[in-house]
Amino acid sequence: MAFSDDFLQELAERNPIEEVVGEYVPLTKRSGQNLFGLCPFHNEKTPSFSVSPSKQIYHCFGCGKGGNVINFIMEIERLSFPEAVEFLARRAGMAIPEQAEDPNRARRARLYELNREAARFFYQQLEAEAGRPAVEYMQRRQITKRTATNFGLGYAPDSWDALCSAMKAMGFTERELLAASLAKQGRRGGIYDAFRNRLMFPVIDVRGNVVAFSGRIVGEGEPKYLNSADTPVFSKSHNLFGLNLAKKSKAGYIILVEGNVDVVSLHQAGFDSAVASLGTSLTNEQARLISNYAKRVVLCYDADAAGQKAAQRAIPILDRLGLEIRVVTVPGAKDPDEFIKSSGAEAFRALIEDSENGEEYRLARAAANYDLSTDAGKVGYLREAAEIISTLPDAVTREVYSLRAAEQCSVAPAAVRDAVVQSRRRRERSAKKQRERADTRPERQMQPQALGIRYENPASAAAEEGVISLLAAMPELFRAGDRPAAEKFSSPELRHIYECMLAQLDAGRAPGSAALSAELSPAESGLYAQIMQRPVFAANARQALADYISRLGRTSGEATGEAILAAASRKRQQLQ
Ligand code: UTP
Ligand code: MN
Repeated sequence: MAFSDDFLQELAERNPIEEVVGEYVPLTKRSGQNLFGLCPFHNEKTPSFSVSPSKQIYHCFGCGKGGNVINFIMEIERLSFPEAVEFLARRAGMAIPEQAEDPNRARRARLYELNREAARFFYQQLEAEAGRPAVEYMQRRQITKRTATNFGLGYAPDSWDALCSAMKAMGFTERELLAASLAKQGRRGGIYDAFRNRLMFPVIDVRGNVVAFSGRIVGEGEPKYLNSADTPVFSKSHNLFGLNLAKKSKAGYIILVEGNVDVVSLHQAGFDSAVASLGTSLTNEQARLISNYAKRVVLCYDADAAGQKAAQRAIPILDRLGLEIRVVTVPGAKDPDEFIKSSGAEAFRALIEDSENGEEYRLARAAANYDLSTDAGKVGYLREAAEIISTLPDAVTREVYSLRAAEQCSVAPAAVRDAVVQSRRRRERSAKKQRERADTRPERQMQPQALGIRYENPASAAAEEGVISLLAAMPELFRAGDRPAAEKFSSPELRHIYECMLAQLDAGRAPGSAALSAELSPAESGLYAQIMQRPVFAANARQALADYISRLGRTSGEATGEAILAAASRKRQQLQ
């Protein structure tokens, strides 16, 4: 271990989890000790993400992610363990002790280098005879030489080994080419170029590293784009095409479009804050990235139904981060690139200036679905409008839009206001129910599927979880010689957690200390955090431990379904 346990303990103490998480997720206090918020790791409308200041862990009932403050930073910043430690040390102003070099870091540095050399290789092809198809294609699409240089565009020649040979000659290995997603494994051994006869768009992160490529076919053909798979230096959902340039823009807003070509075309027309989400629908992480650089976003997706739907999906994701949203739909063109070509940059600027905000856009879309001259149409629209308005966090904004919708349909404002209140109540009730269900549904707790873990023996696993939660809460019970043997555990994940905790304990530390996150896999950390959520009652701990021990390794047949149900109902009672 590169970091001492004492250092990690101090690091955790100086980075209280509620503070650190609070910098990413707005948390609110509800009944009980935990803080709740919307999970930053999956899309959700009602908060199932909880932070426990007393236990210093986070846990999402929805997706199962969880762990301590170091796990959280690893997950949200996509960092390795040593990098996350460094990140938190910097945050708390602590000096980082001498540490062993992280082997992953060296490996990643090689991949960055390889990607950079590959980008240079593709770019150089544009000068070569081989690159003529791409040069002609760019001319056809009116992409200037200057723009190509600005984005580092290039060409992957129509060859099976042009890139691989060039990179191998520079000392890169086949393994590295495969790891960078630049090559594919041939069926009879050997590797071949993953990108062939494609216009290459390098994806460059905000630190200026080339992390991936997006390759558009030159001309017509399928698939239109090929993208790098996720690699140790790239995650599609955590990057945006063009952000390396857009982050330097003075526009004060980010323009979010669908296509790489739209980004290139907008930058060329002077809109230097355009980015695209790499062909995925917008993710929370991408939205968060945007929010690091601008407080306003102009959504300009393709004009077709799919594009408009994608825009509607993106709005709440951006909204949740407090971003001010504007929506532009290009008239008479399929996408911003086509619009710029046909109508010019000034026309596009006018569209941005007249754009509707996110609420207006959603309300207008809803209104378009109804005939407001009929009573039935009004009822339908107002119901939908109330639903939309009720999701707005700010009371004044809700009032403004309620009034507007009432006017639109010539009804009394009070009617709309009431409908909005009803809809908010309904939402809160269903959120509450969902939380309760997540808290108490026994089968859900028995199978941590969200974490990709499946218990072979749920009955024994339930007892194993019980042992772990007792060990965390009452380590003194485990100091004596009668601790259960790890070999009796049926779940390899639970066994690993248990063994790591015992090792901590034997080293004289609290078994749930920060050092645990260095040992556990992300799924195991999530499982650990999930188990730590459960209350433990000191009064009958000894009896409970004996109980659990007697059930270790037994299948539900032996332990009887009744025992499990009884345990589940005990749990339910404890929670009430
Ligand atoms: P588009 O088909 O709109 O591409 O897909 P585009 O960039 O605007 O290209 P042109 O103008 O038609 O030439 C939008 C984005 O979706 C992803 C790419 O990131 C693309 O830029 N995509 C599209 C894929 O990943 N794979 C595909 O096969 C198609
Ligand atoms: Mn397009």
